[in-house]
Amino acid sequence: MKKYLIVIYLILIVSFVTGCNSESPMDVFGFETPLDFTSPLSGGDTTIFDASSHAFSIPAPNLSAAAFEKHLEGDVEFEAIFVTAPAVVNPGLGPVYNNVSCINCHSRDGRGRPPDADEELVSLLLRLSLPNTEDGGDGKPPIPVPGYGTQLNNRSIVGTPAEGAVKIEYFEETITTEDGTRVYLRYPNYIITESYQPLPEEVQVSPRVAPVVFGLGLLEAIPEKTILSYADEMDINGDGISGKPNFVWDVVKKRYTLGRFGWKANQPTLLQQVASAYHDDMGITTSLFLLENSLGQPQHRMNNTKPEVSDEILEVVTFYVQTLAVPARRNVDDPQVRHGEQLFLQAQCASCHIPTLRTGTLLGVPSVSNQTIHPYTDLLLHDMGQDLADNRPDFHASGTEWRTPPLWGIGLVQTVNGHTNFLHDGRARDLMEAILWHGGEADKSRQITLEMTKTERDALIAFLKSL
Ligand code: HEC
Ligand code: HEC
Repeated sequence: MKKYLIVIYLILIVSFVTGCNSESPMDVFGFETPLDFTSPLSGGDTTIFDASSHAFSIPAPNLSAAAFEKHLEGDVEFEAIFVTAPAVVNPGLGPVYNNVSCINCHSRDGRGRPPDADEELVSLLLRLSLPNTEDGGDGKPPIPVPGYGTQLNNRSIVGTPAEGAVKIEYFEETITTEDGTRVYLRYPNYIITESYQPLPEEVQVSPRVAPVVFGLGLLEAIPEKTILSYADEMDINGDGISGKPNFVWDVVKKRYTLGRFGWKANQPTLLQQVASAYHDDMGITTSLFLLENSLGQPQHRMNNTKPEVSDEILEVVTFYVQTLAVPARRNVDDPQVRHGEQLFLQAQCASCHIPTLRTGTLLGVPSVSNQTIHPYTDLLLHDMGQDLADNRPDFHASGTEWRTPPLWGIGLVQTVNGHTNFLHDGRARDLMEAILWHGGEADKSRQITLEMTKTERDALIAFLKSL
């Protein structure tokens, strides 16, 4: 058990009870709050003031004592290492899988990265599918690849073959900004090696790194109509930015609902996201996905009639990712950061990375309900151009579309995870590279960034680092 968490929690409870949290940002920090300015309280009442390597792992400070207990139970399960059945503790791993625990991919509740040259895959995975020849697949779930399913499981339990391994090659290209500064972008190429049976030539491959898992209850609590109000599929306002909702299959409601989670907004709820993680990433069944992910493959053994992870565990793990606190912004009053914030708005970044949203009610999670938050996302899909494309449609997301990722906490990734690899596959090695990969609907933002002076680009990055 994380004892330090309990100590932090007690300190936060005291400050909450003594009223710190009820004061507006202006009261706390002593300055006026202009309209275009976001307060340091990125997660509303769930914000914590911690910029250490634990910044992503702290429970929301406004949890009740019972909710705090439940969160800690979820924390234990999030860290639980699964093993091959039969076993007394945490059996059910595999037979094919990508990793043995949630935390192994979402290290420190933070983000993954692509492997270094001679490492095997840890926190990056490849989604696979076959082309949908009927109508390009628009609105349909990805078609599984026979013998593989919809994900390459690069590990397996003893006595069965893994599905394959992955090698990544990078090609560098130089981009020169208006003032002559050179930036080197690396183009990844994914090669599946050691495939245990031939892969069809037309297989579609989508690499994805594990995203951060804090603040997610807040994103789940944003009313659907708020998200849809930002959608502008036909670009009627003529700003070159459309924004399109994904609608994906909800296995509990048994109908298509708004997608919010994952790099293509391909999961509708955190419950289903977590159940899919157990199923697809670890080979563990739950009541939502009762059949083993290896069904129909030679690795498949027998199917348990009972879920390998109970509904109680599924629920506390879901609650855990719903109630991790959002770290507060830092240096909000620094003139360079303020300048960068202006440039962020001028470069149209905020058209997709929406600074301020209001949450509605999330049933059973009052701590994330009715909060003003600063996630810097619209949770919508955008065409990001051919260079970032995976060419693998996912429900309504086309091969060039990605969901705007939230930017809160992005300045702490280096401290928490020890790297600065960004974008869906971690190809960007720092924040500037991430911006210069933007294309498609975000091409104008990229152009504006290229035309900035060095001082301006530095300010923009200083602002991102303050998030
Ligand atoms: C093999 C690595 C791996 C493992 C193990 C793993 N995840 Fe993930 N997780 C990912 C990747 C990659 C994504 C993005 C998936 C996508 O875009 O399709 C993701 C996405 C998520 C998201 C959505 C985040 C967002 O911002 O949309 C949540 C929540 C999550 N995982 C929780 C879990 C939990 C809980 C477990 C354990 C039961 C788990 N993950 C196990 C790699 C992993
Ligand atoms: C048209 C919508 C749009 C605009 C405009 C836009 N972005 Fe993005 N941004 C995205 C999407 C979508 C991604 C994810 C792309 C991917 O992973 O392939 C992204 C990714 C990022 C990332 C990496 C996030 C992560 O978690 O890896 C950063 C940083 C970022 N954007 C900053 C900016 C800045 C700064 C600007 C303005 C100069 C900007 N964006 C303009 C949609 C947009």
